[in-house]
Amino acid sequence: MSPATGAVTEALGELHARYADVGDGELADYIPQLALADPDDFGLALVSMDGHRYSAGDADVPFTAQSVSKPFVYALALSLLGLDEVSRWVNAEPSGEAFNGISLERTTGRPANAMVNAGAIVTTALIPHTPGTPRFTRILDCLSRFAGRSLDVDEQVYASESFTGDRNRALAYLIRSTGPLPVDPVAAVETYFRQCAVRVTALDLAAMAATLAHGGVNPLTGEQVVSEAVAAQVLAVMATCGMYDSSGAWLLRVGLPAKSGVSGGLIAAGPARFGVAAYSPPLDTTGTSVRGRLAIGELSRRLGLHLMRNPALAASTVTLVTTAGDLPTAPAAGHERAAHEDVAVVAAQGALDFTAAERVLHALDEAGPEGTGAVLDLVRVTGIGGVARAMLRDGLVRLTADGLRTAVADPDGLLRRPGHEDGDPRIFATREEAVDWCLGRGGGGSGPPARPGPPPSGP
Ligand code: DON
Repeated sequence: MSPATGAVTEALGELHARYADVGDGELADYIPQLALADPDDFGLALVSMDGHRYSAGDADVPFTAQSVSKPFVYALALSLLGLDEVSRWVNAEPSGEAFNGISLERTTGRPANAMVNAGAIVTTALIPHTPGTPRFTRILDCLSRFAGRSLDVDEQVYASESFTGDRNRALAYLIRSTGPLPVDPVAAVETYFRQCAVRVTALDLAAMAATLAHGGVNPLTGEQVVSEAVAAQVLAVMATCGMYDSSGAWLLRVGLPAKSGVSGGLIAAGPARFGVAAYSPPLDTTGTSVRGRLAIGELSRRLGLHLMRNPALAASTVTLVTTAGDLPTAPAAGHERAAHEDVAVVAAQGALDFTAAERVLHALDEAGPEGTGAVLDLVRVTGIGGVARAMLRDGLVRLTADGLRTAVADPDGLLRRPGHEDGDPRIFATREEAVDWCLGRGGGGSGPPARPGPPPSGP
């Protein structure tokens, strides 16, 4: 076992051992077939953004997704219809009520959110149903893409819920009586029951959660299942509504978007980090797996995964704030040295987002805006977001407008754009070339992969 596999598997194994003997909770029995589950089954699974799969215990025991299907069908509705259209039918407000509550807006009958049963039934009804592609085919196909393999339906669980599911039927009729149910309530509820009876394992659920965490791209198959925007929308609703009447306390203590189901499945997503899932059938009073809640809560605390504790703050973006006079290549004294001291040099590293770009621009200010030149060294930058790119270009253009010669050491062309605009900084392959150009040396050299720019005008 590799060191990484060992460390993560060990962490899951420890959590599994710690909670395996917890005997609290009751099996769901309002769907009779669910009462036949083995209360001792307990599986944990985690899928990373690179598609590595880790597990402990009964991670490949099949069970039905139940409410864990809801965020994924919501994702499908958002993909097909867009947020504005879906929001006309289903709101996105935490209800503070149980999963089967009558969580409907008083005047419009619109369900509070897509995670409670009322909202999920409407969401399912929104999925287009055409002769060539029935509604449930679209749903099963979508859930399968999220899991990265072909899923099927547990017909016995489906039949069991259909037999006893009068409360959901009542909800559907109630919703239609006030307006927002675009299809026949009986048809909507039967499709919803089938989606709840889709068979998964904890490893499947971890892959599904990881796909949401990975901007809609399944890390196992590489398929873009939903857009990055839709994945973020779904995670937002999971964060505020996914745990029903314990959503606030969950976000407070665990800090991850999550979704529970009455068969004992529970998922949580660490955006850009991982998807995790637990399976253990005994439930607490909110319909959430007792062991799942304990294990995922402890995983979040142990690994510092709470979303509101931003690990990006600890990383250092700016690695150097100085002048060319302090670089090893500077002359020891004289006129040449003074010229070097008039060129600010700032180096950055890692992936640059809005926060990182703001720091880099501050560092450029700090390094000496009253000099004659400024060099931004991006050699060790591994990636840059669109917002950060625009901010850095804009900041450098301002320095140029203030009369400075500005140059970027940018071998990967992160700040490059097609064409050239007046005031754009020059781009060079190395820091040394960029400094030389700011000093008026090097014949305006545009070392590879510099793009063509105007000839230097002299300091
Ligand atoms: O509609 C129902 O009652 C079930 N098919 C699903 C409910 C559920 O999983 C609630 N989650 N904890």
